[in-house]
Amino acid sequence: MSIDIELAVNGVRQRVSVSDDDLLLEVLRRTGHTSVREGCGVGACTVLAEGRSVSSCLARAVRYDGVPLTTADGLADDDDDVVEQFVAAAAMQCGYCIPGFVLMGHELLAENPAPSRAEIAAHLEGNICRCGTYQEICAAIEATARRRQADQQRRSA
Ligand code: FES
Repeated sequence: MSIDIELAVNGVRQRVSVSDDDLLLEVLRRTGHTSVREGCGVGACTVLAEGRSVSSCLARAVRYDGVPLTTADGLADDDDDVVEQFVAAAAMQCGYCIPGFVLMGHELLAENPAPSRAEIAAHLEGNICRCGTYQEICAAIEATARRRQADQQRRSA
C-alpha cells in the first residue's frame, strides 16, 4: 500500500508516495539526496531530524512525514564551519563516511559547544571510517569548537 508523505529536506518540502516499509534512506536517495549513503553500520546514512541524528537505513520513511530533515547537501557549500575544519584537518580519504561524520559533528556541537576529545570520540562511536581518519575527524570537530568559542569571545569583547 502506498502512502503520501511530506518529505521536508533541507528546507524544501515535497509530497512523495512511499510504501509503509520503505526506509528513509531509500526515499531520500530516490528523491535525489545522494549525499545520504548506504553502508550498514558505518554511519554514512546519517541525517539530522530536527537536529538529532538518525540512521536513515534503520528508519521507516512514514515516521518522518513533515519532520524537518538535514542532509550534508543542506549545509552551506562554502560557509559551513565544520566542513571547513574537516578540509583544514585533511579529515577524509575516500570521503564516503564524511557526510555522516560532519552531521554528527553539528549535532554534538549544538549539544556541547566545548566537547573533550573523549566526548567527541564517544559521540561518534558506531560511525566507522574504513580509511581510518578518526584522529583527523576528531581534530576537525575540536577545531570547530575552538573557532566558535574564539568568534564568540571576539563578538562579546
Ligand atoms: S574517509 Fe574513507 S571511509 Fe572515511
